Amino acid sequence: MQTPSGQPVDVTSSTRLVVLVSGAGSNLAALLAAHTDPAYGARVVGVVADRPGIRALELAQEAGIPTAVVSLKDFPDRAVWDEALTEAVAVFSPDLVVLAGFMKLVGAPFLARFGGRMLNAHPALLPSFPGAHGVRDALAYGVKVTGCSLIVVDEGVDSGPIVAQVAVPVEDDDDEASLHERIKVAERALLVDVVGRAAREGLVVEGRRTRFGR
Ligand code: GAR
Repeated sequence: MQTPSGQPVDVTSSTRLVVLVSGAGSNLAALLAAHTDPAYGARVVGVVADRPGIRALELAQEAGIPTAVVSLKDFPDRAVWDEALTEAVAVFSPDLVVLAGFMKLVGAPFLARFGGRMLNAHPALLPSFPGAHGVRDALAYGVKVTGCSLIVVDEGVDSGPIVAQVAVPVEDDDDEASLHERIKVAERALLVDVVGRAAREGLVVEGRRTRFGR
């Protein structure tokens, strides 16, 4: 069995992915569609959410993937929540943690445990328009091209080394919803591609520069 790039795949040691979600889960759905192919090189072994009742959790359950919910409101403060989130993810022994529409910042304990093997999807061309409203902020600024970024998570807000980006043109009649939908089409393809390559080929981070390889 070979990957699309011709490398042999050891299906017995596919990369264990844990996906963190907060909402619709379209990125999660794309990963769940990809991981059924053993040649993909990665499989989703757990899904962790910061809130109950979201579509992303239903998608995981429909796919037979174990889930956990760690809601901030159930904990006395953010530090305790962060410890609980860290433990909830650690249960699945991930090789790679993917923040796919996870709308909370992770704290020091989480970074200490999973730093360097954590990817975040963001709906803008970083370093422009970080934060929770990347699509809205780009539209309000009036850019003609925006897009999506996959970054390695660091302690800042969407400030980690960039792994891959795709540009998406802004149309004259775009509103936030229409622009975000087009970005999400590009984002899903990028996420599936990058996670698969990182699993099969490895990902090297040297300062702010990243490349696939070992
Ligand atoms: C995605 O566009 C992702 O980039 C964004 O939330 C959306 C989640 O969609 N994340 C952020 O804005 C994080 N700052 P999904 O739930 O359908 O995968």
